[in-house]
Amino acid sequence: MLSMRGVGKSFLGVRVLSGVDLDVTAGEVHAVVGENGAGKSTLMKIICGVHAPDEGTIEMDGRPVSFGHPLEAQRSGIAIIHQEFNLLPERTVAENVFLGREPVRRDPVGRMVAWLAGGMVDRAAMEQATARLLDELGEDPFAPRDAVKRLSVAQQQIVEIVKALSVNARLVVMDEPSAALAEHEVELLYRLIGRLRERGVAVVYISHRLREVFDLADRVTVLKDGSRVTTLPIGEVTPDELIRLMVGRDLGTYFPPRSAGAGEVRLGLRGAGNHKLRDIDLELRAGEIVGIAGLQGSGRSELAKAIFGAEPFTTGEMTPSRPRSVREGVAMGIGLVTEDRKVEGLVLRQSVRDNALLVARAVGAKGRNGVRDLLERVRLTPPRQEQQVRYLSGGNQQKVVLAKWMTMAPRVLLFDEPTRGVDVGAKAAIHDLMRELANDGMAIMMISSELPELIGMSDRVVVLRDGRVAGTLPAGSSEEAILHLAAGEVA
Ligand SMILES: Nc1ncnc2c1ncn2[C@@H]1O[C@H](COP(=O)(O)OP(=O)(O)OP(=O)(O)O)[C@@H](O)[C@H]1O
Ligand SMILES: [Mg+2]
Repeated sequence: MLSMRGVGKSFLGVRVLSGVDLDVTAGEVHAVVGENGAGKSTLMKIICGVHAPDEGTIEMDGRPVSFGHPLEAQRSGIAIIHQEFNLLPERTVAENVFLGREPVRRDPVGRMVAWLAGGMVDRAAMEQATARLLDELGEDPFAPRDAVKRLSVAQQQIVEIVKALSVNARLVVMDEPSAALAEHEVELLYRLIGRLRERGVAVVYISHRLREVFDLADRVTVLKDGSRVTTLPIGEVTPDELIRLMVGRDLGTYFPPRSAGAGEVRLGLRGAGNHKLRDIDLELRAGEIVGIAGLQGSGRSELAKAIFGAEPFTTGEMTPSRPRSVREGVAMGIGLVTEDRKVEGLVLRQSVRDNALLVARAVGAKGRNGVRDLLERVRLTPPRQEQQVRYLSGGNQQKVVLAKWMTMAPRVLLFDEPTRGVDVGAKAAIHDLMRELANDGMAIMMISSELPELIGMSDRVVVLRDGRVAGTLPAGSSEEAILHLAAGEVA
C-alpha cells in the first residue's frame, strides 16, 4: 500500500533522516521502534504530509505521491494520531471528528434555517455519523455531543481513532498511542487496532513498550540515528535482539542495586486527606525510593500533587509542614516531575536552557548546579542548550523536566511516570540517576504504571486503592501481589 524509498530530511542543517525505506501492506500492523530522537515521529510526519522530505520517493498503491499538506495525505486515506493529541477540548466529540470538514446542509430551506441559527453546519448529520462510527467500533462510552475536555485520555484516543475512520483512512499512523494510557485502557486500544486490521486498514505503530510491539505487530522496522537498521517479521526476533538493534549494545533488564538503608525521615504524613485522598500514612526517608502503585483513579497523582502543594491536603498532618501552595512546596525543597510534560512541565517555545532554569529562577536560586552538567547527567542527546524545547523528541523533553528539578537540589523529589515515552537506553539512564540521587541523600517517591519498573526500583511499594493506602509491600514483591492489593482482592 505504502512504499517509501531513500527518504531523507534535515532541520536547520542537521540531518534527522537519511536513506530510509519503509513498506507497509494492507491489514498489517507495522511497528517502528528506536531510541529517542531516532527520527520515528519525523518519518511519520513525512508520511502524513506535515513535513516534506528533502529527498526520496513515496508511493501509494504503486503511484508516486507527494503531500504538500496534511489534508492531501488525508484525502489519500492516511490518518495520524500524534504523540501529543490535537483535539480541541472545548468542542464536542462530533465537532472534533469533523473538524475542518464539517458537513453543511444541502437543502435550501435547511440552509436558511441553519444560517439564521448561526451557522450552516449540519450538526445533526455530524452527530449521527459520529454515533454510527462509535457503534461500529462497538464502544460507546460517551456521546457525540459530550465535550472532549470531559473525556479521559483513553476516551480522547477513541475520538482520534473515530476521526481516522471517518475519513475512511486506509493507513493509520499511531505515534506512541499508549504512552498516556493505564494498563486496562491499553486493552481497549488493542481491541480497536484489531478492528482496524480486520477492515484491512494498515497500522503503523510506534511504541517504546516492547511488550506491545510483540503483542501487536506483524513486522517491525528499527530506526537508529535517522537510518533504517532492519525490517523483520516479529516472529524472527527476540526482545533482547530488538533492544540490541535499537541501542547498538547489550542492555540487560537490570535495575541499579538498592541502597544500603534509609536515613532520617524527610517527610511524614499522618491521616492526611483531601477531596480525593483519605487517611494517608506515609514516610519518605533520605536515601530511599518509595514506589506508589494503584489503578487509574486510585489517587496516585493526587498524592504527589497534595504533597507538592498543588492540590493541598485539607485534613491530617504533614511534617515538617504542610504546603498550601506549589510555592510553599518548592520552598520546602519538594520537586514534582509530572506525567504531563506538555501541560505542566515545560514552556515549549523556550530554549532547553531556559526551561532547565525555570525552577531555579522561581525559587530565586541561580541554578545551584550548572545547567550544562545537569543536561549531561540526564543524558540529553544531543545536549544543545539553545534549541527550543518543542523541537525535542518526546523522551528528550522528559530529560529536560528532570534537569529542571535537579537545579534546586530538592530534598524530596516526586516522580509521576518518570519514564513514560522514554526509550530503553534512556530509561536505564534515568533509573541509574534516580538511584544516584537517592544515594546522595534525596528522598524519592515514584509513581509508575509499569510494574516491572516499580518493582525493580522501589525499596518498598505503597499500594493505593480508592484514595487510601491499601497496603505496603517490601522490595522485590511480585506483580500479582501488587495487583491483588490494588484491585482489592484477597491474595
Ligand atoms: N521541527 C524540527 N526542527 C528541528 N529539529 C527537529 C524538528 N523536529 C524534530 N527535530 C529533531 O529531529 C530528531 C528526531 O526527532 P523525532 O521527534 O523524529 O524523534 P523520535 O524518534 O520520534 O523520538 P521519541 O522516541 O523521543 O519521540 C531529534 O533530534 C529532534 O530534535
Ligand atoms: Mg517521537
